[in-house]
This record gives sequence, C-alpha cells and structure tokens, in this order.
Amino acid sequence: MKTVRVLTVCLGNICRSPAAQGILQAAAEKTKTVELFLDSAGTAAYHVGNPPDSRSIQALQDIGINIAAQKARKVSTQDFYDNDWILAMDQQNLSDLQAIQPSDGRANVVMFGDFSPNVNFGEVADPYYGKDKEFVVMREQLQRISHAFLEHIANE
Ligand code: 4NP
Repeated sequence: MKTVRVLTVCLGNICRSPAAQGILQAAAEKTKTVELFLDSAGTAAYHVGNPPDSRSIQALQDIGINIAAQKARKVSTQDFYDNDWILAMDQQNLSDLQAIQPSDGRANVVMFGDFSPNVNFGEVADPYYGKDKEFVVMREQLQRISHAFLEHIANE
C-alpha cells in the first residue's frame, strides 16, 4: 500500500488540526487505499504541550474517534522535509506556512479545503470562539474534505 506523510496545520493546534488528524486517520483505516503517517501542528505556540480543546475531543468522541492523547506543538522547518503534504486549515495558516517554507522542502503546502468544493473559500472556519455547534460544523467539513483528499492521493 502507498504510504503518505501528512501534517495538518491550524493556528493553535488544539481545535481544527488535531480533529483533522483524527478524522483522516479513521477514514484511511476504513478505506484502506493508502497508509497515512499523520501528525498535526500549529503556526502559533500558545498551546504547546496541551491536549486538544475539550470541545474538539467531544465532537470527535461523538463519532467514535479519540483524539485526547494528542499534544499541541508548533510547526517546524523540519516538517517541510519530513512530510509529503502540509494541509492548512485557513488562508492565514497557509501564508504563515509559506513564510517559513524552505525552498528545497519536499512537502506540498496547500489549503486542505481546496480538495472539497463545498467548503467556503477553501477554509475550515476557526471554532475556537464559537459554541459546540461550530465544532460540529468543523467536524462535518473535515469529514467531507478528508474523503476528497484520500480519493485524490489514492489516484495520484
Ligand atoms: P485552532 O483554534 O487554530 O483550530 O486550534 C484556535 C485555538 C486557539 C486560539 C485560536 C484558535 N487562540 O487564540 O488561543
């Protein structure tokens, strides 16, 4: 089976990117079309060492995915050499990544939402200042994009 290394990235690495990691892992285990080596990181260091936001943990627990053991870290230059894909959750994450991207890095650095036409401007909206409902919207967006992304890399 093809193996692909993927890093999901958001601002704080406690809401969207840990959820994206968990959803991609579960989807890949189900479809068995590619083997994913996944991690997630944040462009900011506010929450380094912390577990995911309890609302993200709950939203994923509700569909049987456990992300509670993840720990936030900041994205590093090495990530651009270690991964095939670096998936940004919004435009700001993408430009922050591009600002530190080494010219000889091998990762494809793209907006995750670009893989699904149903997501607003390719962005996974930041639910951090929202309510539980926003975390469900986030989860549903991430599920749609994850399936489209897996299809894309399986057909590469
Ligand atoms: P995330 O959400 O980028 O999806 O993890 C946020 C988490 C924390 C903050 C902002 C967004 N913050 O400002 O602390």
